[in-house]
Amino acid sequence: MWILQNLLFTLCIALRYVTSAVGVIHVTGYVGSEVNVSCSYDEGYEPYEKYLCKNDCGNSDVLIKTSESRKNKYGIHDDRTARIFTTTISDLHSVDAGKYWCGVSRIGKDIYTEVELKLMPDSCCDNMTKLESYEGYSESISCPYEIQYQNNLKYICRGNQPSTCRRQALITSHSRQHGRFRLDDDKVSGKFTVTINNLVKTDSGSYLCGVQRNSELDVFSAVELEVKEAVHYAAYAVVPVVLLICVLVIIYKYKCYNVRATEAVMSRNTPKAEDVIDADKGGIYGNQEFVVTFKQQSALNNFDDPGGDEPDYENFTTEEFYCNENYHKANRR
Ligand SMILES: *[C@@H]1O[C@H](CO)[C@@H](O)[C@H](O)[C@H]1NC(C)=O
Ligand SMILES: *[C@@H]1O[C@H](CO)[C@@H](O)[C@H](O)[C@H]1NC(C)=O
Repeated sequence: MWILQNLLFTLCIALRYVTSAVGVIHVTGYVGSEVNVSCSYDEGYEPYEKYLCKNDCGNSDVLIKTSESRKNKYGIHDDRTARIFTTTISDLHSVDAGKYWCGVSRIGKDIYTEVELKLMPDSCCDNMTKLESYEGYSESISCPYEIQYQNNLKYICRGNQPSTCRRQALITSHSRQHGRFRLDDDKVSGKFTVTINNLVKTDSGSYLCGVQRNSELDVFSAVELEVKEAVHYAAYAVVPVVLLICVLVIIYKYKCYNVRATEAVMSRNTPKAEDVIDADKGGIYGNQEFVVTFKQQSALNNFDDPGGDEPDYENFTTEEFYCNENYHKANRR
């Protein structure tokens, strides 16, 4: 009786042990990608056959066994040292989501571990931070993360596919600088910053900031960067400015030319009243401003002022004044 009781007790312990090891394993994968389903088993079961199955786990429900390393889209690997066997399901489709079992074959009832596979679309994210910059400039992409991940691997990749992001990372927190990219991890504020130097047009597009997690899918945030052509913007500004300068120079030269032409005429001939009248009509000089200049000069030289008009100094522009100064000098000699 005592022996029987002891035996039952040991059996219960053993059963409880098997049952307690059996929790539901939650696995998440990306549609179109692959997922690893890892199941651990107890000591002593290393040489036993393991398998992955669906539904009732009848013979036709077994997807792959350790005796066959690859079957259809399933692969299996038994790590006997770690006592973990891993089934890889590739080419995931929405129909692959749901309940699976990890099985360990043995005499009597097999040992089962329940697996729940969840699938996610392989694109990220609903929220995108938009950034704008120019060719040749540098831009910093700020990637916030939860403080619990401060010691996890951080990385950034192009595109919006989380499944391939870490493999195709442009830079990770393992290296601070890589080509035009620099990664600074501010663990205190929970944010890492990726700076892209010497931007080119083709840097435009989507980026994913990633944080690696051990047993769950990595976490991501998305950034949309637009790099504009700085050269064209400068050209758009330079062309009108250059045109404006040309126009101003031409106007200035034209006015000076007219004034100097007047000087030449005046130094040769003493002006007569008719000349003034001619000029007034826009005759030989065709320049109203000259009349003012001329009248002013007449007054300085004590010529009779036929009209008695006062010269309009206030109407003088800088160019006229400058040009007239040359005239004064010429006249004083
Ligand atoms: C699954 O495991 C294999 C072998 O360890 C590894 O090469 C592969 O990257 C893993 N796949 C995923 C999606 O984690
Ligand atoms: C999107 O961004 C807004 C504002 O930054 C935030 O409140 C919201 O929670 C974000 N939504 C998702 C799905 O991340």
